[in-house]
Amino acid sequence: MTTTALVTGANKGLGRETVRRLAARGWEVFLAARDEERGRTAVAELAGSGLAVRFVALDVTSDESVASAASQVKAAVGRLDVLVNNAGVGGEDGPPAEARVAGLRELFEVNVFGPIRVTNAFLPLLREAASPRIVMVSSGMGSFAVARDPRWFDLVPPGLGYPASKAALNMITVQYGRALDGIRINAVDPGFTATDLNDHRGYQTLAEGTDAIIRLAGADGPTGGFFDRKGPVPW
Ligand SMILES: NC(=O)c1ccc[n+]([C@@H]2O[C@H](COP(=O)([O-])OP(=O)(O)OC[C@H]3O[C@@H](n4cnc5c(N)ncnc54)[C@H](OP(=O)(O)O)[C@@H]3O)[C@@H](O)[C@H]2O)c1
Repeated sequence: MTTTALVTGANKGLGRETVRRLAARGWEVFLAARDEERGRTAVAELAGSGLAVRFVALDVTSDESVASAASQVKAAVGRLDVLVNNAGVGGEDGPPAEARVAGLRELFEVNVFGPIRVTNAFLPLLREAASPRIVMVSSGMGSFAVARDPRWFDLVPPGLGYPASKAALNMITVQYGRALDGIRINAVDPGFTATDLNDHRGYQTLAEGTDAIIRLAGADGPTGGFFDRKGPVPW
């Protein structure tokens, strides 16, 4: 039976590359994007490389949009083997003392509440799969170990939004890992990868940035962990 997968925020960047790599394995992949035009353009580009993937509209901040995406996947294939919660935003930069709560709320709506909303909506379909797994696309910026390591102090200035959102996502992954019986769930740090999120300053290629996502999307492996492309990383 073909493996089915859905990737959120997949019209560009790491999400689109994840879709490309999973579809190249012969999997049946849903490319989920909040904007129909951007999503369908990405599907058409992949079709140009000979890969057939399906578009599904999915805004991770909207209950209605997420429910509708889950219904479409249910109607099309009846189950989901792999969910990749990839959609994310960088939010506003700046020192903690200047953080705007409204801005943080918007960021958390995508990076924290989004993956919860999507995961819970797709759990019934994941439970229909023989070996279901969920990949949470987190970041090393969400690691307490990294945030407290003086070697990073010059490179990464203190900020509340993005690091806190990914730290929250890490804890959410641990708690789902404890609670979900029979569904593997792991957090992934892609590493600093050239995408629109960082104005293409990242030093990794998209292939390198998706290595850990692809590995954790595989049928066998751990649950409740945090990994980069080289293996386990500290929380
Ligand atoms: N690049 C890195 O160095 C790096 C490092 C660590 C972790 N990450 C994580 O990797 C993931 C992918 O990031 P990326 O680097 O590929 O960034 P990207 O190129 O900016 O892609 C982000 C994707 O998320 C989508 N998105 C934003 N808000 C959304 C919403 N409300 N609903 C659905 N989709 C939404 C965007 O859609 P639109 O095009 O419509 O805005 C876009 O498709 C993120 O979770 C990010 O935090 C990236």
